[in-house]
Amino acid sequence: MNWEVFLAPYAQVVEELKIKLKGMRKQFGYASRHSPIEFITGRVKPIRSIIEKAERKDIPFENIERGVQDIAGLRIVCQFVDDIYAVVEMVRSRNDLTIVEERDYIKKNKESGYRSYHLIVEYPVETIDGQKKIIAEIQIRTLAMNFWATNEHSLNYKYKGEIPTDVKHRLKRAAEAAFKLDEEMSKIKHEVQEAQRLFFDI
Ligand code: GTP
Ligand code: MG
Repeated sequence: MNWEVFLAPYAQVVEELKIKLKGMRKQFGYASRHSPIEFITGRVKPIRSIIEKAERKDIPFENIERGVQDIAGLRIVCQFVDDIYAVVEMVRSRNDLTIVEERDYIKKNKESGYRSYHLIVEYPVETIDGQKKIIAEIQIRTLAMNFWATNEHSLNYKYKGEIPTDVKHRLKRAAEAAFKLDEEMSKIKHEVQEAQRLFFDI
């Protein structure tokens, strides 16, 4: 297995999608309109994590491209929950990718307390051997959801997936607090947006 060759189109997809999604954000800025996108990050999954996931999910090596859907990963972080759904619709209306799977972990959060909206997309990338359709995962979440998920991820890493019960309990409470924060912010969304429009240049 030549990983460099295998991962090259994934790196290409991450770079292309980052540019395109950042382009969407810029357009809102030029039009002095509230951007539903706060920031975008992207990464190619490290090789050891790909192997680990394939083993954990019993995915044979030849099925890795279809089975491990987050080799190319994009994350779109928004200010408000409504923005997430606006972003989903914007992505849906694009002609340069196809949504193949959708998971709304906001309407129904995961057992851990995790909340986010996931899109699995298929994106055609041009390679020296012709066009290749690459699977990528786009996670869309608020700043509050991102704060929670980042910290929970660190703890999962630290405890190798076995977070102690008391810490788990605290994480649940933190998830509820993050949810509450999103709700409260939604209620003053228009106030915040007006302020951000007025003080756009600062
Ligand atoms: P994995 O969870 O990665 O094995 O994939 P899956 O096929 O079960 O898909 P799922 O939608 O559950 O998760 C996809 C991705 O979402 C993960 O790789 C994480 O980046 C993120 N995610 C899912 N659940 C959690 C969670 O409880 N905490 C955190 N921090 N991230 C999560
Ligand atoms: Mg999972």
